[in-house]
Amino acid sequence: MDNTLKNLKEAVALSPDNAILRKMLAKELMAEEYWSEAEVELKTILRLTAQDQEAKLWLAQSYWALDKKSVAAVIAEELEDQGCDAPAFTFLLAQLALENKDLPKAKEYYEIAVNANLALKNTTFEAQLKETILESGAALGNATESTEADEQFFADIEKPAITFDHVGGLASVKKEIALKIIHPLKNPQIYEAYGKKIGGGVLLYGPPGCGKTLLARATAGEINASFINVGISDILDMWVGSSEKNLHEIFQKARASKPCVLFFDEVDALGASRSTMQNSSSRFIVNQFLDELDGIRYSNDGLLILAATNSPWYLDSAFRRPGRFDRIVFVQPPDAPAREAIFNLYLEAIPKEAGINITKLVKQTKDYSGADLKAVIDIAIESKLEASLMENKVVPITQKDLLNAIKRHQPSTKEWLSTAKNHVLYANQSGLYDDVMKYLNLKK
Ligand SMILES: Nc1ncnc2c1ncn2[C@@H]1O[C@H](COP(=O)(O)OP(=O)(O)OP(=O)(O)O)[C@@H](O)[C@H]1O
Ligand SMILES: [Mg+2]
Repeated sequence: MDNTLKNLKEAVALSPDNAILRKMLAKELMAEEYWSEAEVELKTILRLTAQDQEAKLWLAQSYWALDKKSVAAVIAEELEDQGCDAPAFTFLLAQLALENKDLPKAKEYYEIAVNANLALKNTTFEAQLKETILESGAALGNATESTEADEQFFADIEKPAITFDHVGGLASVKKEIALKIIHPLKNPQIYEAYGKKIGGGVLLYGPPGCGKTLLARATAGEINASFINVGISDILDMWVGSSEKNLHEIFQKARASKPCVLFFDEVDALGASRSTMQNSSSRFIVNQFLDELDGIRYSNDGLLILAATNSPWYLDSAFRRPGRFDRIVFVQPPDAPAREAIFNLYLEAIPKEAGINITKLVKQTKDYSGADLKAVIDIAIESKLEASLMENKVVPITQKDLLNAIKRHQPSTKEWLSTAKNHVLYANQSGLYDDVMKYLNLKK
């Protein structure tokens, strides 16, 4: 037998009424998993000090370990009545809830417990929880969805065929991506010669539909790399524990198929959860995400990391530290030359009358996003489709069709820009949003 145990036992034999000594012994017995002995010891302690909550909790834990679950439950009930809120107790409640197949409670208690004390994180429990969730099928609605999401994730390696040429405008953003992540990947020796550390990613932000996702995909196409698109809310929706594993697997998959562009969409979902949500599983995810980004345990050589968000102001500043998303780039609504480029891109392959006046279209589409412009063209095409079907031939679209379509489709970036204005006016201390200020013609 272990020396500590032996000494404690001798001490207890010498002063059998010393509850503190007995608790030390009980604790040691539990640590060594001598549950039956611990049970006897704890009962003795409770005879000495009936109101010792900690001893009660330990006794419940020992009963649990001895598979005397109903007795454990009775003590737990008593402790609950007494308002015990020790994290280890909350964890026991999670175990009891799982035993009763009360999955939402099990998950909730587990999260509260781990949130209060990280050391209570228990992969066996997580595995059991997940297994029970899967067994019980759609009992929680989400469970089946999450497995679908799992599968979707891992199938998600693409080889995009598009390049920067397929993205209209945004010259400075393309340059930034090239400088920060493409060149270092292609010419690491030059960067090293200047002692510049390679790594980190680029965070794209801006109104919806202006090309963030498109750019990320095109970045992969530029250098013939693989592309993995990860929706952060998909990860967060997954069940406790396994989401971290999934995140790690995604990084590993990217590392295995390098060069690879790893793109995290809606990354603000993470930042918000860390500071405002009391949800331990998402906090794990954030920390794990930062770990993976830092590339300490596994090298991120050959990975290009991009992320996108519509609300950078909600992102935890931990993400912006050097080596993480230390470049944050505004993907603005297309200006006139960019809109011209986008019209040209999309009208190229479409049957149209000669002499379409693109300059005029550009003038009429201030504040239209790239996605809006695409929608305009789609509306124009639809208006011609019926005629084409009637006449059984392709009827080319006209300038008038396009102008009508513009009238029917309102620009979608204004709302974002007015929200952004508030954030930028009050949260631009570090000059982070200077580009937005400039775009909105605001003075610092
Ligand atoms: N600069 C652009 N050049 C060409 N097409 C564009 C451009 N911007 C947007 N589009 C078109 O609009 C579609 C939507 O753009 P994308 O998905 O990249 O926007 P996003 O900025 O990622 O939006 P969200 O914030 O909603 O995710 C693209 O698939 C593309 O067809
Ligand atoms: Mg997008």
